[in-house]
Amino acid sequence: MSVAEAVRIDHCDVLDTLGADVRAGLARPLKELPPKYFYDERGSELFDRITTLPEYYPSRCERAILNRHAPDIVADSRAEELVELGSGTASKTRALLYAMAGAGSLRRYVPFDVDESVVKACAVELVELYPGLEVHGVVGDFGRDLAHVPDGRRRLFAFLGGTIGNLYPEERARFLRRLRTAMAPEDRLVIGTDLVKDRAMLEAAYNDSEGVTAEFNRNVLRVVNEGLGADFDPESFEHVAFFDEANSWIEMRLRANGAQLVHIDGMNLDVRFADGEEIRTEISAKFTRDAVRAELGQAGLRLDDFLTDDGGLFGLAVASPAEPFRSRAQS
Ligand code: SAH
Ligand code: AVI
Repeated sequence: MSVAEAVRIDHCDVLDTLGADVRAGLARPLKELPPKYFYDERGSELFDRITTLPEYYPSRCERAILNRHAPDIVADSRAEELVELGSGTASKTRALLYAMAGAGSLRRYVPFDVDESVVKACAVELVELYPGLEVHGVVGDFGRDLAHVPDGRRRLFAFLGGTIGNLYPEERARFLRRLRTAMAPEDRLVIGTDLVKDRAMLEAAYNDSEGVTAEFNRNVLRVVNEGLGADFDPESFEHVAFFDEANSWIEMRLRANGAQLVHIDGMNLDVRFADGEEIRTEISAKFTRDAVRAELGQAGLRLDDFLTDDGGLFGLAVASPAEPFRSRAQS
């Protein structure tokens, strides 16, 4: 099979909501921009650099868990397809694909991401690595476009990296219900969840000494400049990240260094920032095993296993559709 025969990529219009999201977010008392807009090609590259930083333990820990347990996860699920939401460069996913190939069951990989550049790159790379593998990529928003995941048989859904924590609690609940509704009884799910721990360690992971996270944070302003013809000066915004213990999440913000007047040409909008005013750009929730079990249960998913690294820093939940489950309103 040639690369062209093995790869199909479907596109949803992931930037069609940018204008409305920016207008609504910047009108709030605490201004806000959704984290999905970090990820253009540059944002994905910056995230990849983050995963190699000494302070950023989640990727290292999740990789250790996957390397150790992928063969068992694959054997238990008897999966033939891997559907990965927020797949990025699919670097840790290789452990699952490798185990599926080893078990002789690997048929199809479905990378699903808002950033087209990563979906394309990993599709080409993986069909070359696994002759016979079919890749059906989806460029889409997992909060909205799950219906574009192709139907399949014995699917293992993967949502790695702790990306579920970048959703607010009510968004997570809605997302998990929709995902549960999309799953057939024999499908399985693995979800990476970062765990509650010492504040210093959490805050260091989001305030790295090389300033890569700061650059990643500011990238959302570049995406808004590019997508909407805005004139944000990213260098006039300072990176801020702190652990909000009451909400059990890391919060990232951008703080205006001096008063700013930003013009968003594509929306004919002027936005004022007072000196020191902040924009919330991301939350990253930190979980306990019980919280993960409860949230999955609320969505009709049963926690079958909860795997952690040796240090207990990161958790990988393995779940299956609970029966009986009636989906609530398809909100
Ligand atoms: N799973 C990878 C990448 C995590 S980074 C890992 O564990 O290393 C988060 C990924 O999710 C990025 O690739 C980003 O582009 C994607 N993403 C963020 N919000 C998204 C959304 N709403 N819909 C689809 N993909 C999204
Ligand atoms: C993708 N996501 C799980 C990362 C996180 O840790 O919340 C994004 C990130 N933000 C700052 N550093 C990494």
